[in-house]
This record gives sequence, C-alpha cells and structure tokens, in this order.
Amino acid sequence: MKEMILILDFGGQYTQLIARRVRECHVYSEVIPWHTPLPEILARQPRGIILSGGPSGVHDEGAPRIDPAIYEAGIPILGICYGMQLTALLLGGRVERAREREYGRITVRMKDRDGLLEGLTESSVCWMSHTWQVTECPSGFHAVAETEHCPVAAMENREKRVYGVQFHPEVTHTAEGKILLLNFLFKICRCSGDWNMKAYAETAVRQIQDAVGPGGTVLLALSGGVDSSVAAALIYRAIGNRLTCVFVDHGLLRKGESDQVCHVFSHLFPVRFIRADAADRFFADLKGVTDPEEKRHIIGRDFIEVFRKEALSLGKMDYFAQGTIYPDVIESGQGSNAAVIKSHHNVGGLPNELGFTELIEPLRMLFKDEVRALGETLGLPRELVWRQPFPGPGLAVRIIGEVTPEKTAIVRESDAVFREEIAAAGLDSRISQYFAVLTNLRSVGVMGDERTYDYTIALRAVTTDDFMTADWARLPYELIERVSARIVNEVPHVSRVVLDVTTKPPASIEWE
Ligand code: XMP
Repeated sequence: MKEMILILDFGGQYTQLIARRVRECHVYSEVIPWHTPLPEILARQPRGIILSGGPSGVHDEGAPRIDPAIYEAGIPILGICYGMQLTALLLGGRVERAREREYGRITVRMKDRDGLLEGLTESSVCWMSHTWQVTECPSGFHAVAETEHCPVAAMENREKRVYGVQFHPEVTHTAEGKILLLNFLFKICRCSGDWNMKAYAETAVRQIQDAVGPGGTVLLALSGGVDSSVAAALIYRAIGNRLTCVFVDHGLLRKGESDQVCHVFSHLFPVRFIRADAADRFFADLKGVTDPEEKRHIIGRDFIEVFRKEALSLGKMDYFAQGTIYPDVIESGQGSNAAVIKSHHNVGGLPNELGFTELIEPLRMLFKDEVRALGETLGLPRELVWRQPFPGPGLAVRIIGEVTPEKTAIVRESDAVFREEIAAAGLDSRISQYFAVLTNLRSVGVMGDERTYDYTIALRAVTTDDFMTADWARLPYELIERVSARIVNEVPHVSRVVLDVTTKPPASIEWE
C-alpha cells in the first residue's frame, strides 16, 4: 500500500466513520487497536496517524495509553477528542473535567486559520461530545480554536506536525469537518489521494490470499443479498474455486432472484456452487403457521439445518466466510479491529456447529454504500449490487397468515409488477424500499360479469436514511393507477390493491 492513514481506535463510536471519511478523500485508511505496538505501526509506514475518540477519561484508572515515542516518529498525528486529550496529557499539558459538559452542535471560534483550520470560517458549528477537556496545551503547542466553555477546542504544534481537535470533524453535523480532514490529509500528510475501490479490492484480495494460504479452502453461505454476494465475488478473485458457496433456496425469494444468483456464481464468478433447493421443506414446515415470530423461527431453523447438511456433505473446509459489514459489527458489539480475519466467537452460530474456529469477513470495515461500490468494481451486475434490503425470512413475512406456495406466487408476481413499474418510472433509486404485501383479507369484487371473492394486495414504499425511521413515499397517482390495474389484471386471485400510508414509527416497514 503506497499511501495510508492509520487510525488508532480507542473505542469511539465514530472511529470507522473517520476511516470512511478518509477513504472518501481517496486516501486508504485502516483502523487498528490502540495497543498495537509502536514498531508494528511504524513498519506499516503510514503517511499520518489519527487517534480516535473513546469512552474513557484520560485520568480514569486503566484508561488507554500509547507509547509517547509515537510523537517523535516524524509522522503527522491528529488526535480527535480522547485522542487529543491523550496527546495533551502525554506531552505535558493539562486535562481537566469540563465545568460545562458540551454535547451536540456547538459554535467553535477558529482563532488561527493558517494550519489545520485553513479555509474554515471563523465561527463554525462543530459536533462535540465530551466531559474532559484540555485546559493547558503542552509546550510547543498553541490553542487554535475555542468555545464558550472550552479554552482549547483545537491545538497544534506545526513544527512536529501534531494536532488535536476536541470536536468531531468526521460527523456531518460538523459543517466544515471535511475541510479540516482535507487539510490534514493533503497539506499536512502530503497525501496524493490516488486511492480508490479498485485499490481496496486489490489489497483485500492479497489479505484473503495471505489469510487462507496457498491450498486453503473457504465455505460461504450465499443468501443472494448484496453483502454475501460481494464477499463471494471478492473471495473468488482471491482464491478462485477453492471457494465453495452454498445457496439455500427457501422458495421465498423475489421473482428472478434465485436464478440470477445461480447465473452470477456459475458464469461470472464460477465458484464451486451448491444450490440447495429446499422450498418443499420450508413450505411443509410453515404449513398452518400464522404467527410472525414462529414463521421467522421455523425459517431460521430450517435454513441452518439445510445449510449444515449441505456443508457436511462437502467434507472439511478450512475457513467459513461471511459478508458481515461494519454496521453488523457495531450492532453485535464486537469492536472493529481485525480487517479480514478474526477469531470466531459468535454465540451459538452456525460456524461453531460446523467446527470452524476462524472466520473470513472481508467486508467488516466497510459501510453499505462502500460495499456496493466494491461490488460494482468487481463486476457484479448493477441490479444485484443495488438490490434493496430484503428480510432473511423473505416473502414469508410479506404474507399475512399461513404461507403457502400459492400465496407466495401471488405476492411474488404482484411484487414483480410493482418493481417493474417503479423502475420504468425511474424512481427505483429514489425510494429506499418498496414491495407488495399479501394481506390475508379477501373482499368482494366483480370481474367481467362474475362476482369474485379474492385477495387484497397492499403496496408499501418508504423513504428512509437508516431504516430506523421511515416515511411513506409519495408515489405519483398515475404510477399507483398503473400498478393497481396491472396487478388486478395480471395476477390471479387479486381483486383489490391498497396503499400503505403509515410512517415508521408507529408502523414497522415490513408488515410482520
Ligand atoms: P422493520 O420492518 O423492522 O424493518 O421496520 C427494518 C428493515 O429491516 C429489514 N428486515 C429484515 N432484514 N432479516 C433481515 O435481514 C429480517 O428478519 C428482517 N426483518 C426486517 C426490513 O426489510 C427493513 O429494511
């Protein structure tokens, strides 16, 4: 790697976001644990080092400390929040409990805008979240920014190229954070900014090759979603068909998806591909079940059993691969350390049962949009890479009441019509998620001269940034009209179409 910024992680909630912002500036960056020995850090020849924030106070017992020799290595350093306080403490400054805890958007006065703060406005809104603060800079440093309550909101020692900021330049609430990061990367660290996803793919391929070794084999559970598909494509690049993918087709995917997955991984990325066609088993086990949680439970259990049976019939593999991405890592509270490979400690997980002790997780440092960009770089089809989220239990949670093959066909066909029309209207990239739901409701209709008594399809379309909250999408009436007419005409046993106009909360996005 020609040019790299290393981020020492002190456990801050935004650490990976720093890495992502740096990568957005076309400079490669990696997060490593704060206790990585200094010689190891120096051996990687970073262009610059960023010390992240963290939950500890610098004076807490057992608070993370680093070797102060890092400041003498001639490498530019930027400390953020805890990283700044630690720098101040280790170099002889003073860090004290703030009299006024600052949290949220705070106006910061930029006093000296010649160095790190070049190009920022004098009074700039920044995101702060701290209890401790630097009250006295170490010798050789001077305060370059302040707030009403914080005398040293930023400090610098230009000669040694060591900097600190109390606020968080990586979050979007810090209006001019990007300018600050650009200054650090390009003016101070003198990066050239020639990194891109292609380079990431090359690095990841090398890391996978090193981790797996020359003859090692890898097993991956392919769901057909974006993450596992991108992971499979990447690992295939690294080790070819020493990768085996097992795809459990539960018969509850959207129209065309199962065939597309099979096509991609037998033609574009010809891995050793096993398709377990298990729809009959899933439908048999779901027969008569109406409770949403019970459906999910049955599908989860069946999935594991089918996968295990297939995996065991393949003989021993060396590694188990997963398309875990950074938000999953955070959600499971596992921290952000190893890049590609980590010891496996999933509680009660499938890899354990199959006897794997180590996992290959090549996407664990990436955010969703970075994963999509990587997928495109690797040459995966756009429809697959830009696929909207889809629940693991599939269409089963979009059929209210009992799941049967007939009802699955109704919701699948209705959904396909809806998707087609949204795409034709050019709205697919503007709506975060949209799908059809088969309500269990039947109502009276009239078709031709005949009375009908058939199902009601609900259309759900939402816009959201994070899927935690969502608004219903204001679809054009003409579009709704076309979708409704087509579904009723083309899909047998549907006689009525309704539109879901509920936000989340109080409703969830899925109906079950
Ligand atoms: P809700 O319905 O909770 O959904 O508002 C939020 C997002 O999560 C997706 N979702 C799931 N994804 N397994 C998944 O992988 C699931 O069981 C599951 N349930 C909901 C949902 O599609 C939406 O994007």
